[in-house]
Amino acid sequence: MALPSSLNRYLLLMAQEHLEFRLPEIKSLLSLFGGQFTSSQETYGKSPFWILSIPSEDIARNLMKRTVCAKSVFELWGHGKSPEELYSSLKNYPVEKMVPFLHSDSTYKIKILTFNKTLTQEEKVKRIDALEFLPFEGKVNLKKPQHIFSILEDYGLDPNCIPENPHNIYFGRWIADGQRELIQSYSVKKRHFIGNTSMDAGLSFIMANHGKVKENDIVFDPFVGTGGLLIASAHFGAYVCGTDIDYNTIHGLGKASRKNQKWRGPDENIRANLRQYGLEKYYLDVLVSDASKPSWRKGAYFDAIITDPPYGIRESTRRTGSQKEIPKSIEKCPESHVPVSLSYHLSDMFFDLLNFAAETLILGGRLVYWLPVYTPEYTEEMVPWHPCLKLISNCEQKLSSHTSRRLITMEKVKEFENRDQYSHLLSDHFLPYQGHNSFREKYFSGVTKRIAKEEKSSQE
Ligand SMILES: C[S@@+](CC[C@H](N)C(=O)[O-])C[C@H]1O[C@@H](n2cnc3c(N)ncnc32)[C@H](O)[C@@H]1O
Repeated sequence: MALPSSLNRYLLLMAQEHLEFRLPEIKSLLSLFGGQFTSSQETYGKSPFWILSIPSEDIARNLMKRTVCAKSVFELWGHGKSPEELYSSLKNYPVEKMVPFLHSDSTYKIKILTFNKTLTQEEKVKRIDALEFLPFEGKVNLKKPQHIFSILEDYGLDPNCIPENPHNIYFGRWIADGQRELIQSYSVKKRHFIGNTSMDAGLSFIMANHGKVKENDIVFDPFVGTGGLLIASAHFGAYVCGTDIDYNTIHGLGKASRKNQKWRGPDENIRANLRQYGLEKYYLDVLVSDASKPSWRKGAYFDAIITDPPYGIRESTRRTGSQKEIPKSIEKCPESHVPVSLSYHLSDMFFDLLNFAAETLILGGRLVYWLPVYTPEYTEEMVPWHPCLKLISNCEQKLSSHTSRRLITMEKVKEFENRDQYSHLLSDHFLPYQGHNSFREKYFSGVTKRIAKEEKSSQE
């Protein structure tokens, strides 16, 4: 297919992890930097090799400063299903685009990258020698070359069926690597303040990318916990704030989540976490507050709301209650403990979250959150809906054989009006959506069944 003359072709080498999250990440980042996916590019599914057509190398570089799903990007000079096809495609690549990187004053090296096969040194040398028809005039420098070129060979996805010859071969000029190293440098294992449900670093960065978080944004997490999601947004230059119903979490008090440590230390809190990464200047504040009763003045303040609400598995779903809401039977009994918190049904929680996002996001701002689902009963209709929010992506992460959580990204497309508050109750989505209420019971019943099954099979 001929490309519009304003577009150049780039090759993305994608990481083979969190496959479903990759396309929404790359699309969100491209839309942030002025690029776009064309529909034919959406068919790459599980492959680690994606061809991108975008207007400039600057967009490709910006993309790599943000992505944790892509490993590297290359300017694509040629592509084929066989060496012959690759060579003829390379011969068609405009020489004037190659020359600036091949002239006699330059240094270079050629690397071979294979997916699903290992080549011998001899095979690698053979492939490099076969490229001598390209007008390389510079000197080879293996240690510190000015330009790195790569031959990338794709042997498919099945490790049990590795073909003799690659399905696809690419040749390109390396431009930049992505941000995979953030997964290690921000690892929860080395973090100052953590809790039982601290969000994994890689997923936190993916969420910030799905949320199109950018410099000087204001990002809010209404279920902030230990602030894992704030850290990722602050890393991308956003000012961050959050709320949590749990006083101890907000104030860094109470029991520690680390093994070999009983109580949280004096400076175990969200601010200290940001300080650990040199991001303290992005800390606005965190407050004790119940997400079911937001105490914000009316208005659109947030560029993004990025959050991981409780599912009731490792932390409870709670909301503050009043005397009026306490069932009469409890009230009558003089010895019974008067609860200060009531259970918070999941469907109510998502209903409140979407309404809150519709009211407080700026137009074009994004809500990114996790929705727990019981997979045997899940249908797309269950995903909560709101007239002001458009669904951008919905990606699954499996938790067990019958439960998963879905990363939902929505964008505010319409200003909030009072009548929007309940309009989604009238939609077809509302009934299936109430099915979330029993997620906790289904989760545990499933776990119980699985343990029973495992025990039974181990006795057999
Ligand atoms: C899954 S955890 C969030 C973890 C967080 N992303 C992190 O990295 O630590 C959910 C949090 O929601 C809080 N929570 C539960 N019910 C709440 C409510 N009604 N309002 C605000 N926070 C609530 C819990 O105390 C818990 O800290």
